Amino acid sequence: MIQLNHDYDKLKPSYLFYRINQKVASLRAEDPHRRLLLLGVGDVTLPLAPAVIAAMHRAVDEQSRKESFQGYMPELGKDFLKQAVADYYSRLGFRPDPEEVFISYGAGDELGSIGDLFASGNRVAVPEPAYPAYVDTNLMDGRTVLSIPGNWDNGFLPMPDENLDADLVYLCSPNNPTGAAYRRSQLQTWVDWANALGAVLIFDAAYEAFIIQPDVPHSIYELPGARECAIEIASLSKTAGFTGTRLGWTVIPKALVREGRSLHAMWVRNRTTRFNGVSYILQRAGEAALSPEGMEQNLLNIKQYRENGRILMQALDRLGVSYTGGVNAPYLWFRCPNGMDSWEFFDFLIDRASIVGTPGEGFGACGEGWFRFSCFGSAEDTAEAAARLGRIQGS
Ligand code: MLT
Repeated sequence: MIQLNHDYDKLKPSYLFYRINQKVASLRAEDPHRRLLLLGVGDVTLPLAPAVIAAMHRAVDEQSRKESFQGYMPELGKDFLKQAVADYYSRLGFRPDPEEVFISYGAGDELGSIGDLFASGNRVAVPEPAYPAYVDTNLMDGRTVLSIPGNWDNGFLPMPDENLDADLVYLCSPNNPTGAAYRRSQLQTWVDWANALGAVLIFDAAYEAFIIQPDVPHSIYELPGARECAIEIASLSKTAGFTGTRLGWTVIPKALVREGRSLHAMWVRNRTTRFNGVSYILQRAGEAALSPEGMEQNLLNIKQYRENGRILMQALDRLGVSYTGGVNAPYLWFRCPNGMDSWEFFDFLIDRASIVGTPGEGFGACGEGWFRFSCFGSAEDTAEAAARLGRIQGS
């Protein structure tokens, strides 16, 4: 008789962002005229850069002509895009071998798929609060997941201690959801810990383009020793507004070897089996997004999201609410008022101000009693949300 994957029984009934989107859909169905302010799911609201749009148009035209038409893409990505990624990193002060870059449809997919490299008996540690897919995908694969709790006292930046017994660790810096970002010396401690134990770090760099402080690394490979212990997963979703367009990459250095085997070679084996490559049109879009001209345009959007962060920080300051994030990251993370739990505050904010945020509990048990605002909303909605927050307190 067929046997299903009973590791699904360990999951919450629905995925955090799906639940929030469903809530928004039901509120809209109840009252299509209600002005909901969406600061929940971290989805971008500004359009793609002109350089990206132009590249996509050109690529569509190429696909319309027999001489330039392209069929299957190479599973690991087109050379022009792997080169563009390597060039992008070199502007950050580090240059991977383009062969170490694997082009993907985005970090969300990759964070789950990368688990194929690791046996189900591995112990996975997740500094929490964390992007819920780290935990959920590992539970689905049957691995044991340990939470390393973040809190106000450790700045939501948990560090390994001598008791940490894990084979894989997911790190996200700047962090989703707390917006906190590891300093160079802290990340070096993680790298040294992983190399000492033979563990592997999965570094989620989705928010690196928001970093402004010089002591915060953009890539794990800025740290000596990281090429021997880390996989980096990156995405254009937040850097270039590709949440709906989909493009990212994964770096697996050839120097990353465990049990005498190259993880790079294993991932080549995996991708060439399970994946048919990213569409040509999107790869040209990605190349344009990473070009100096494209990045200059992307940074104008990022500047607007930072401004949203500033407006929300001012609103929280006026309310006397302490928070993390907003500096190197497009998220603000704060304690729910009046001892409310996260989902209670979620309902309260919708009820009183039609503001949709994200309950901290969705990012792990230590997020209970905390709340996240996304800075990716429109400028108008963000300003209106700040005004409504002020009015709630006054009422
Ligand atoms: C979030 O709200 O945390 C993001 O939208 C998650 C993601 O990037 O998938």
